[in-house]
Amino acid sequence: MRILVLGGTGVIGTAVVRELIARGHAVLGLARSKTSATRLAGFGATPLRGDITSPDMWTGQLPQLDAVIHAACDFDSDMGATDRRLLDHLLPALGAQANRPRFITTGGCWLFGATGDAIATEETALDPLPAFAWMVPQLARVLAATEVDGIVVHPAMVYTADGGVFQRFHRDATERHAVRVIGSESVRWPLVHADDLASLYTLALERAPARSTWIGSANDGVTVGRIARAFAKRFGTHSRDPQIMSADAAAAEWGGWARGYALDQRLSGAKAQHELGWRPIHVDVESEIAESG
Ligand SMILES: NC(=O)c1ccc[n+]([C@@H]2O[C@H](COP(=O)([O-])OP(=O)(O)OC[C@H]3O[C@@H](n4cnc5c(N)ncnc54)[C@H](OP(=O)(O)O)[C@@H]3O)[C@@H](O)[C@H]2O)c1
Repeated sequence: MRILVLGGTGVIGTAVVRELIARGHAVLGLARSKTSATRLAGFGATPLRGDITSPDMWTGQLPQLDAVIHAACDFDSDMGATDRRLLDHLLPALGAQANRPRFITTGGCWLFGATGDAIATEETALDPLPAFAWMVPQLARVLAATEVDGIVVHPAMVYTADGGVFQRFHRDATERHAVRVIGSESVRWPLVHADDLASLYTLALERAPARSTWIGSANDGVTVGRIARAFAKRFGTHSRDPQIMSADAAAAEWGGWARGYALDQRLSGAKAQHELGWRPIHVDVESEIAESG
C-alpha cells in the first residue's frame, strides 16, 4: 500500500513508519522542517513538505494514496482548532481520490478519564481530560466520514527504552537524582511499547473494518511508583523513593494536558488481540527498565 503518515517523526509515528517500511509498504511522511524531512528519509520514507497548521498548502497536491495514518499533534493550546482545520482540508482531498483511502486516526487513553479498578474497553463511554476534549468530536468525524474508511486507535501510555512517557523518568534519574511521579505512587498507567503499538496500527490498516475502534494497551495498568522505583534502581539514585509532584504543579510546568499523568487508569487491549491477532511482546516493563542501557 502507499500510505501517508502525519507525525511520522514522533514517538508513535517513528515506530509506525519503520514498521510499515519493514512490511514492504511505500510510506510518505509529512515533514514540517528540513530536520524532520531528513529523519523520514533516513527511515526509508519519502518526505512530503507540509505543516498541519496550514493544510491548504499541501492537501491539494497529494498523490494517490491507499491510506493515511494521523499521529501528528503539536500539544499547544490551539491543537483542537488545528486538527479541525486539518480535517476540513484533508478529508475532501481524500474524497477526491480514485479509490476511498483508509484513514487511521489517533485518540488516546486520556480520553477515558480515571477508571480506577474498572478496566476500560472500546465500549466504555469517553470522559476526556479537558485539554483533549476536542479529540472526541474529531474521532467521531473520522469514523462517520464518507470520504474515507475511518478507524480509531487509542494508544495507552507509549514508551520506548528511555523515551516516550519514560523520557522524564530517565531524565529525572540521570539529572535530578530523584524521580518524580505526578499525583501519587499508586496512580496506574496502561502501557504499550511504541514497537508493539506500531504493529497494532499496521494490523488495523491491513485487517480492521471501517468505522472500528481499537485500544492499544499491552499492560492494563502499572503503578507509576513501580516505574519510578525501577528507574531509580537502575541509575542508583540517592533515594529510591519517588518525589510526589501535584497535578497542579505538573500543569503549571508542562501545560494543562499534563494533568493526564495523574489519571489512575486501566485499559484493555484484549479486543485487538482477539480480533486482529495483535501480539504485544513488551509486557514486563520493570525487567525492561532494569535491562535497558
Ligand atoms: N505518546 C503517548 O503516550 C500517547 C498516548 C496516547 C495518545 N497519544 C496521542 O498520539 C498523538 C501523537 O503523540 P506522540 O507522543 O507521538 O507525539 P510527539 O512525539 O510529540 O510527535 C508529534 C508528531 O507530530 C508532528 N507535528 C507536530 N506539530 C506539527 C505541525 N505543525 N505540522 C506537522 N507535523 C507536526 C511532529 O513533527 P516534528 O518532528 O517536526 O516536531 C511529530 O512527528 C497525539 O495526538 C497524542 O495525544 C500519545
